[in-house]
Amino acid sequence: MTELSSIKDQVAVVSGGAAGIGLACAERFAAEGAKVAIIDRDRETGEAAVRKIETDGGEAMFTAGDCTSEADMDAAVAAIVDRWGRLDILVNCAGGFHAAPPIEELDAETWRAGIDWNLSGIYLPMRAVVPAMKTNNYGRIVSIGSQAGRMGTAITAIDYSAAKAAVVGLSRRLAVELAPFGITVNTVAPGTVLTPRIAVLHAERMDQLASAMPVGRLGKPEEIAHAVWYLCTPGAAFTTGATLDVNGGSWTG
Ligand SMILES: NC(=O)c1ccc[n+]([C@@H]2O[C@H](COP(=O)([O-])OP(=O)(O)OC[C@H]3O[C@@H](n4cnc5c(N)ncnc54)[C@H](O)[C@@H]3O)[C@@H](O)[C@H]2O)c1
Repeated sequence: MTELSSIKDQVAVVSGGAAGIGLACAERFAAEGAKVAIIDRDRETGEAAVRKIETDGGEAMFTAGDCTSEADMDAAVAAIVDRWGRLDILVNCAGGFHAAPPIEELDAETWRAGIDWNLSGIYLPMRAVVPAMKTNNYGRIVSIGSQAGRMGTAITAIDYSAAKAAVVGLSRRLAVELAPFGITVNTVAPGTVLTPRIAVLHAERMDQLASAMPVGRLGKPEEIAHAVWYLCTPGAAFTTGATLDVNGGSWTG
């Protein structure tokens, strides 16, 4: 069974891996024996995350970069391949939003910035890693979408919901293109997960959000990391173009 589930010695890249869901993925992969590269625009927390992984006995590196920058993503991936000589896994976690105004108050500049952050910021890391994955005829790409891209929610930004829905389309399209190269491309769509960002963003309605969940609580970052881990294992080779809703039962189809 080990050959189906082991990612030991594989090279895993986690965008937005300095905090929240991305950090949980980075820590999980390191615990599974993978070499983990964190790409994040926050150098301080990114370097702290790498130190913690190393203290726990894992192997990790940090590369500063903004996922909306083509130059940053190309340079980050080049540095990772330069250090470890290969690249097996990409998990796209960078994303978010700051406010959720009604459409009349959503100006075009904020809309474009939200699409750039949550859609271009997924496309550019994907684009950067594919050549290295094709070299080995193997790859696992997982992007963190959102329940907000799967159903109508009033508490998320309009641009964010639109971009997260588009991540599903992007991943399905790429899954078809990359299937002949042994590369799978999937999406994990979480419901509300208790990360530091969410604790601040929704500070006044945490109880309300938790009680709206069929399981009666918010998700934990490590529960999302567990779903991501499955999609990144060798045994998930037949799972591609899929969207895995991890939301405590909120999604009803
Ligand atoms: N927490 C939730 O409830 C929830 C639910 C559904 C989807 N998501 C998605 O999961 C992902 C992670 O969310 P989180 O709550 O863990 O967020 P978080 O803010 O706790 O962590 C995000 C990390 O990504 C980094 N980052 C953000 N944008 C970046 C960029 N353009 N380039 C480089 N680094 C960047 C941040 O510096 C931070 O370290 C996001 O895509 C978010 O939309 C979160």
